[in-house]
Amino acid sequence: MENINWKDLSFGYMKTDYNVRCYYRNGKWGQIEVSSSEYIPIHMAATALHYGQQAFEGLKAFTGKDGKVRLFRWEDNAERLINSANGILMAPPPKELFKKMLKKVIRKNKKYIPPYGTGASLYIRPVLFGTGPQVGVKPAEEYLFVIFVTPVGPYFKEGFKPVSMLITREYDRAAPLGTGKYKVGGNYAASLTSMKKAHDEGYASVLYLDAKEKKYIDECGPANFFGIKNNTYITPKSDSILPSITNKSLLRLAEHLGLKTERRKVELEELETFDEAGACGTAAVITPIGKIVDDTTGKVYEFKNAPGEISTKLYKKLLAIQTGDEEDIFGWTEIIK
Ligand code: PLP
Ligand code: COI
Repeated sequence: MENINWKDLSFGYMKTDYNVRCYYRNGKWGQIEVSSSEYIPIHMAATALHYGQQAFEGLKAFTGKDGKVRLFRWEDNAERLINSANGILMAPPPKELFKKMLKKVIRKNKKYIPPYGTGASLYIRPVLFGTGPQVGVKPAEEYLFVIFVTPVGPYFKEGFKPVSMLITREYDRAAPLGTGKYKVGGNYAASLTSMKKAHDEGYASVLYLDAKEKKYIDECGPANFFGIKNNTYITPKSDSILPSITNKSLLRLAEHLGLKTERRKVELEELETFDEAGACGTAAVITPIGKIVDDTTGKVYEFKNAPGEISTKLYKKLLAIQTGDEEDIFGWTEIIK
């Protein structure tokens, strides 16, 4: 076991022993390589460097009380990566390859999987990018698919405590018919200035509105948004947000807990009517929202200063399934031996 202070981990990069790699060349995927280098030699004209041909994923593995390692919903991440790859004309890694590489990288880095009860987990980061050279704007003919892992703690330093969010009309994250629904690096580059503004002003993140009308809620930085009222879990439907696997899971869990669920357009004004609000994602898990400030209108939407009852139930239920504390009746977890 490594000498790691598991309980104090933040959401950051820590070097582990191995990563796995696979090249797509001459129209086919090659052999899986195991590497102990953190570096990648890359052609200076690679399309990833010039034209943003890049997509990534984020998923987690957890150690249970029984000592078993559970991987959460990997198939959904594999499918989303295929979708992102197709969205920007990259070679999509087949699901079987994704699975083999995942298992290999987790097994090879066993000592970095945080123990049960520490609140930490193993974050797994698959990344796919165009390594082949082009100077004209065209897709590459060669791709590299890499998966690395790193042990992580909570994404928002507050942990499971309410955070505040900023609504600003100065920047958009994604265009209405753009790449917002894909997990491509360009969306994150586009979010950096607004996220910096939010952080500089003391907010945990930006709550993005739809780029066209600025009328509806899109999502919260690196997480989806949900609100709760009248025993209903409500989350925005939008073509420019990432389809969150955590959100999809919470919709099921909410139903299971006897709540109604709605995935539909959510008007900004509706924020006033929610009893609870939160951000959800692999990294963010559930992060309750305590306050949302609209810096154009000056309007402040305030929620409870403590995690809401339903958000707390959902959070506990999700973690219980991920760690195996509760039976996984949905078939979301896979034990990695
Ligand atoms: N939205 C964005 C922009 C994200 O980067 C993420 C993180 O992956 C999410 C939402 C949440 O998605 P998931 O629950 O699949 O991690
Ligand atoms: C995730 O939740 O997995 C993310 O990718 C969020 C972020 C760190 C980009």
